[in-house]
Amino acid sequence: MLLDTYGRTATDLRVSLTDRCNLRCTYCMPEEGLQWLAKPELLTDDEIVRLVRVATAQLGVTQVRFTGGEPLLRPGLAGIVARCAELEQRPRMSLTTNGIGLERTAAALREAGLDRVNVSLDTLDPDTFQRMTRRKRHADVLRGLAAARAAGLTPVKVNAVLMPGLNDGEAPDLLAWALEEGYELRFIEQMPLDPQHGWQREGMITAGDILAALRTRFTLTPEGEDARGSAPAERWLVDGGPQRVGVIASVTRPFCRACDRTRLTADGQVRTCLFATEESDLRGALRGGASDAEVAELWRKAMWGKKAGAGIDDPSFVQPQRPMSAIGG
Ligand code: 5AD
Ligand code: SF4
Repeated sequence: MLLDTYGRTATDLRVSLTDRCNLRCTYCMPEEGLQWLAKPELLTDDEIVRLVRVATAQLGVTQVRFTGGEPLLRPGLAGIVARCAELEQRPRMSLTTNGIGLERTAAALREAGLDRVNVSLDTLDPDTFQRMTRRKRHADVLRGLAAARAAGLTPVKVNAVLMPGLNDGEAPDLLAWALEEGYELRFIEQMPLDPQHGWQREGMITAGDILAALRTRFTLTPEGEDARGSAPAERWLVDGGPQRVGVIASVTRPFCRACDRTRLTADGQVRTCLFATEESDLRGALRGGASDAEVAELWRKAMWGKKAGAGIDDPSFVQPQRPMSAIGG
């Protein structure tokens, strides 16, 4: 098991498959100038499958989420999913994607054994989309979403980040749209992970703001504290249910006490937290000939050192060196 000194157990593994992306969301990436990882630095498909096997067979991981950058840009994705689906301890598998390319790949990914997708979409307006992502790809995302739903990668969840002055007025429209389309919408508070270090506590759109905006058009009833469990999203039934909306209040109501995550970067480093400032090198161990048991021990050791919380509210908080795109959402 992946235990830490605060009594938490990590069962949810996030694997970043690439640091590259075909969008440039302002809260995640700079316009240009980001240094990509070189190919030899990336874990190979074999190395990824091996680490997922170690995690599931020896460390109690039950859920694997593939992220990026944009994981659909990884050529071997469907193969990796298929091989992980054949593991003796088959994990539940999901993908966090911007949806571009999903139109072409959703059916094959489902076939390979993927269970679900989370698609990031912050706005219903193509122009706002272009301002937020610096790319003109809004329609591709909508088509990707529809393809995921048609392929049975359900429930299809949509992640939205609200940014002041850009899309902060869209919360009720996004929810109306998601209800209509049958997607489960979750708002995520913007976190200090942008490479420009432009995040500001003042002015950020909080969970409180989002709920107030939604309540102008919908009746929200809490699902209850119990329903949150280790899931970061607090969920509300919309107009009596059964459909729901989630809000991930990473900044104003952090859920670190219940965190069940462990992360692997595309270059094979274990991170105990999005905001960790230290990493543990598993790639070096793999390439140096370590056995599965040795790799598992390194992973356990890394998680044992997990901090109590991200400490965004602490005056001594320092933003991690890696930008979000190189950590994985
Ligand atoms: N704050 C909050 N969410 C973020 N994401 C990327 N960067 C940030 C940030 N700074 C989200 C994306 C995507 C998921 C991977 O994380 O919108 O939904
Ligand atoms: Fe790409 Fe996701 Fe970052 Fe946007 S948030 S630039 S889609 S990795």
